[in-house]
Amino acid sequence: MSEQQIVVLDPTAGNPEAEQRVLRERGPATRVDILGVEAWSVSDPALLKELLTSKDISKDGHAHWPAHAETVTTWPLAIWVAVKNMFTAYGPDHSRLRRMIAPALSARRTAALQSGIETLVTGLLDDLDKLPAGESVDLREHLAYPVPITVIGQLLGIPVDQRTEFRSVVDNVFATHLTSEEQKANTAALYGLLDALIAAKRTTPGDDMTSVLVTTRDEEGDGSILSDAELRDTLLLMISAGYETTANVIDQALTILLSDPDQLVHVHAGRSTWSDIVEETLRYEPPVKYLPLRYALVDIPLPDGQTIRAGDAILAAYAAANRHPSLHKDADRFDATRPSKEHLAFGHGVHFCLGAPLARLEVTTVLRLFFARFPDAQLAIGHEELQRLPSLISNGHTAVLVRLRPITTN
Ligand code: HEM
Repeated sequence: MSEQQIVVLDPTAGNPEAEQRVLRERGPATRVDILGVEAWSVSDPALLKELLTSKDISKDGHAHWPAHAETVTTWPLAIWVAVKNMFTAYGPDHSRLRRMIAPALSARRTAALQSGIETLVTGLLDDLDKLPAGESVDLREHLAYPVPITVIGQLLGIPVDQRTEFRSVVDNVFATHLTSEEQKANTAALYGLLDALIAAKRTTPGDDMTSVLVTTRDEEGDGSILSDAELRDTLLLMISAGYETTANVIDQALTILLSDPDQLVHVHAGRSTWSDIVEETLRYEPPVKYLPLRYALVDIPLPDGQTIRAGDAILAAYAAANRHPSLHKDADRFDATRPSKEHLAFGHGVHFCLGAPLARLEVTTVLRLFFARFPDAQLAIGHEELQRLPSLISNGHTAVLVRLRPITTN
């Protein structure tokens, strides 16, 4: 097989659908350049699932990526590969770090949060209800963000007055148009906030996950159960996973439903459920488009004759895989009534998203209560005028301007 030209991924996400089509057309896996780092982008769902469950693939760059030490000094996305938490751990370290968090996010513990989430969403809708008819409001800012930020903020015990500050630095972790220097400054600011949170919980523990993790760290003084770096980076993971991704699904589902009211008609007629809408949104517009990075431990021959070499980096191209023709007919069309909405939005295998039940509960609750309260809501601008976030990773809009009620003339 002749060498294919490398595809340079657009860090500003100008036209992600066209980019993902190119990746699919190139075959199961193809070479890409992601902000100056070369990797294999995998967009064939069958191959991707095989790699995500293979013991020969690791997410631990410290141990398994020859280019790691050099890359983390200059790469704008360094934080994605430099952190030390379950997201970048392999084997027993991964099991140890994941076990610490998993019980708090189990389906049972999540279900117990339902009434609190309903109360939270109802309060936000009450505030929106007070706006004059005809006034447009940014639902990303006033609904999509506040729900997950409040839920994860309560879970981790982040004081209310610090949540907005966390939000701006967490947003930047996902922004891929920033320079390496800007990202370094952002990481320093994020670690400053995390260190202050840890210090505060150490002095005054609360009934929250941060306090539990600080106690776990301090009970084993040598850090063998949880090191200082793992404690800080586990909190970083929980906050970033909890803030940005869920906000994106709420943003995307609202945008789709307000642009294509037929999908709402299906829900009202009982042909699809809110859960169908959420799953189809996760398939069609997954909040994480590309997920950096994984590394091959051995040479891996591909079905088309190419070989991923030991030490090569791999990028999971989730958005491209979700619209692959081998997974769905007419995959470029949003259709909540399609019988299977199989997707890889939460990943696959041992790193499958721990927050999936919580994210699903939050998004379903928001959509159900929002459309019950504002059945006539409309996008205040044309769908084509919506601005995408400048990110290879995060898939949402800079704002979702909506008119909640029609302007009445009397
Ligand atoms: C719709 C919203 C969400 C989406 C689409 C999403 C997606 C993902 C993806 C793609 C991964 C990485 C899989 C991989 O390694 O390739 C992941 C991992 C993870 N997510 Fe989520 N996530 C969401 C919400 C959440 C929430 C709300 C939380 C926590 C409250 C959370 C916690 C985590 C954790 C802890 C991991 C790391 C799991 C591991 O490495 O073992 N996520 N998520």
